[in-house]
Amino acid sequence: MLTLKNVEIIYSNVILVIKGLTLEVPEGGVVALLGANGAGKSTTLKAIAGLLPAERGEITKGVVEFDGQRLNDRTPAAIVKMGIALVPEGRQVFEHLSTEDNLMVGAHTRKHILDIRRDIELVYQYFPALAGRRSLEAGYLSGGEQQMLAIGRALMSRPKLMLLDEPSLGLAPMLVEEIFDIIARLNRTTKVTILLVEQNAAMALTIAQYGYVLENGRIVLDGSAASLRDNEDVKEFYLGLSDVGRRSYRDVKHYRRRERWIL
Ligand SMILES: Nc1ncnc2c1ncn2[C@@H]1O[C@H](COP(=O)(O)OP(=O)(O)OP(=O)(O)O)[C@@H](O)[C@H]1O
Ligand SMILES: [Mg+2]
Repeated sequence: MLTLKNVEIIYSNVILVIKGLTLEVPEGGVVALLGANGAGKSTTLKAIAGLLPAERGEITKGVVEFDGQRLNDRTPAAIVKMGIALVPEGRQVFEHLSTEDNLMVGAHTRKHILDIRRDIELVYQYFPALAGRRSLEAGYLSGGEQQMLAIGRALMSRPKLMLLDEPSLGLAPMLVEEIFDIIARLNRTTKVTILLVEQNAAMALTIAQYGYVLENGRIVLDGSAASLRDNEDVKEFYLGLSDVGRRSYRDVKHYRRRERWIL
């Protein structure tokens, strides 16, 4: 459904951040994009969502394709309309708007108010904690509730593909589990396809079928979630000894620094 082929991304004409990145997300699947701070995970999601120009970033090589259509150079609004929604890092809810108005903002590409109303109720079914806080200013919501709201807001555009940028960031372990349960349930019941960016590799690999490991703007390892999860060397944060595929091994064997993912 989503394909990135040999994508290169440069900020401010000089800062090369993504180098020859190729990845695939099959329809209906959950794919994890893992990596340490600064690897280029958020940059990759912003590229898909068309948000790079706002940060003086640019896809300088390669293609991003969704449903067989080229996304490079489309506006963020056009990309939302095609069925892609981004849940940004750090939630970024509108603090001075109510919970419900935040959800309304997520529906800005849609017209029919009755459909929108119905979907708002659906979001409250997925996130009962939000239902009792409809008219509360979002700034007063807890971190976990704000993450739920950010996901709910993305759902309001009725996406076919949801891009989630570190949904576990800053949440207590129990809440992380709850958020991941809901993400898995959304995928099962609404069939929404998910590209999940995480530093919490252990958690991400429990709901993803496939994973990519990004380091310094390159994919250094990829494979089925099971193979990544069960790989002793990955568990030990030691990428260089993985046998998840010869190519990955060659690409990473020079790599010796221990990583900071939580496994
Ligand atoms: N607007 C920008 N201009 C220049 N460089 C940028 C810009 N945004 C990000 N970068 C750089 O690009 C690299 C990748 O950043 P990115 O935010 O994609 O990483 P990340 O993998 O999401 O990290 P984190 O886990 O900390 O969120 C970093 O070195 C960062 O400093
Ligand atoms: Mg990031």
